[in-house]
Amino acid sequence: MRIAASCVGTGVFVLSLFSLVRPQIRVQDAGETQVVRGQSHGQPQDQLQSQPQGVSHPNLEIYASDPDQIWNRLFRLFYVRHARNGEHYGGDELDPYLWWQTKYLLSGPSHDEALKLLDEFLQQHSENLVRDPLRRAVFQRDLLGVYEWLAALSGEQKPVHPELQKRIAEVIRRLALTANEIGKLPDNYNDAILSHAFPVAYDAANANEPFLPADLFDSTGPWVCLGEEHGRPVASTHLHFFRGRSVFLVFFEVPGGRPKTLEYLEQLRNIPKGWGPNEETPHPGGFPAGLFPYPEPPQFPIGTRMALVRQVVLSDASGHPIATHLTESVQLRVYRAIHFDLGGTGSHSQDFFEFTLSRERLFSGQAGGLRAIGQGEKEFAFFLSHGIDPFEEEEAPERFAGIGLRSCSACHEAAGMHSFLSYSRERFGPVDVPPPKLNVSTPSLETATQIQWIERQRSFRLTEEVAERVR
Ligand code: HEC
Repeated sequence: MRIAASCVGTGVFVLSLFSLVRPQIRVQDAGETQVVRGQSHGQPQDQLQSQPQGVSHPNLEIYASDPDQIWNRLFRLFYVRHARNGEHYGGDELDPYLWWQTKYLLSGPSHDEALKLLDEFLQQHSENLVRDPLRRAVFQRDLLGVYEWLAALSGEQKPVHPELQKRIAEVIRRLALTANEIGKLPDNYNDAILSHAFPVAYDAANANEPFLPADLFDSTGPWVCLGEEHGRPVASTHLHFFRGRSVFLVFFEVPGGRPKTLEYLEQLRNIPKGWGPNEETPHPGGFPAGLFPYPEPPQFPIGTRMALVRQVVLSDASGHPIATHLTESVQLRVYRAIHFDLGGTGSHSQDFFEFTLSRERLFSGQAGGLRAIGQGEKEFAFFLSHGIDPFEEEEAPERFAGIGLRSCSACHEAAGMHSFLSYSRERFGPVDVPPPKLNVSTPSLETATQIQWIERQRSFRLTEEVAERVR
C-alpha cells in the first residue's frame, strides 16, 4: 500500500500496480524526500503544500469571444467538472476529467445536455463557426479525448446506447483539417524556445527552475531521440494508455555530448541478453521479485537527462490518425545522484520537470502555449490511476489531488537506469519479449512507427462510427 499510504493528507496517487511490488520502507523514503526537496531549495514545506491545485475559475471564452458560442459550451461540458462543494475544476487540462469509473455524461442530465448540444452543433453546421486551423485542431483533439474515453469503457460502464459516441465521431469528422492545413500547424515547442520564456539549460544550483532544452530536437546535438531495434514503440505504456490519441518521443542524454550518449546506448544494446531477477527489489511478502535486463550493463553517470514529449495525433475525415508537431507536454528528469544503497532513489536523486499545453496560451501566442508545472502544483492523477472519479466520490475532491511533480517518483524511484523505464521496463513489461534494444532514431521515424501501431489497433475506430452517419 505504499502509494496510498504515502499520500495520506496530500491526496492520492493510487496506483495499485505499484503497491504490489515495493517494500514498505519506501513509505518513509517518500516522506523524507519531500522534506529534503523543500528544504534544499529554501522553500518551506507548508508553502509547497499550499500552492494552488487543479482548481480554476474556468475561462469561458477558450474557443470564441462569446461564452455561449456552442464550441465553448461543448468544451465546458466535457472539460469542466462541478464538485458537490460548488467548486469548478478543470477548464484547461490536457485530458478531460473522465476516468473509467466516471458516471458523468453516461446518463442523466449531463448525458441529455451532451446530446442536445451535439445535435445543435450538427444541425447548425457549427463546425463552420471557427475557421482557424489551430483552434479546429485543438478542439478535435479535445473531442477525441472524450470519444476514446467512451470507446474504452467496459462492463457496467459501457454505454448501452452509443448515441453520444456517434455524434462526437461525426463532429470529429467534420472538424478534420486538410493535409495542407495540418502541414501549417505550428511547431509550438520551437515557438516556446524562440519566445525565451524558459531557461534552456539545467542549472544544478537552481534545481527547482524548470528548463526546456533548446537542442532537444537537434539531430546533431547531445540529445538522442530513441528508437527500438525491433521497431517496437519505445514509450509503449503511454501510447497504449492514451489509446493512440498522442504519440510519445523519448530523448536521452549522457554528459559528455552525443558521442558519449551513443557509446552508452551501445553498451545497453550489447550487454543485457535477457531478463533476470531484479536484485534491487527483494521479495516483498509473497510476491516474486521483479525482472530487470540481465546481465546489467554499467550504470549511466550522474548528470544524465531524459525527456518524454507528448504530441497531438489528429483524425482525418475517414478516421485515420494524422501526426502533428503540436507538443502537448514535456516531462524531464535529471539525475543528480545514483543511490543503490538507498534501495531506490526517486526525488532524493532526480529533479523532475513538466511543461503542459495551455489552450489559452497557445491561442494567444504565448510561449508556444507551454506552461511549466509549479513544484507544488496539485493535480488529479490520470495516467495509470485507479480510475476513481474524485467528483463523484467526494464532496471535496481535493483529497484526491496530489502534487504532480512528486508523483514522478511513484514510478521512477528506482536507482539510476532501473528507473529509466523505456529501457528497464521495471514493473511495466512486457517481459515475454527480449529487453528493448534502444538505438538512435528521429522524431519522424518514431512518430511513423506509432502511427502505424495506431492504424493497426484502429484505436480511433471513427471510420465505422462515421459510416453510420447521425445526420
Ligand atoms: C504511473 C507511472 C508513471 C508516472 C507517475 C510517471 N511516469 Fe514517466 N514513465 C513511465 C513509464 C512506464 C515510462 C516508459 C515509457 C513508456 O513505456 O511509456 C516513462 C518514461 C518517462 C521518461 C522517458 C525516460 C524513461 O524513463 O523511460 C521521462 C523523461 C519521464 N517518464 C518523466 C516523468 C516525469 C517528469 C514524471 C512526473 C511528472 C513521470 N515521468 C511520471 C511511467 C510513469
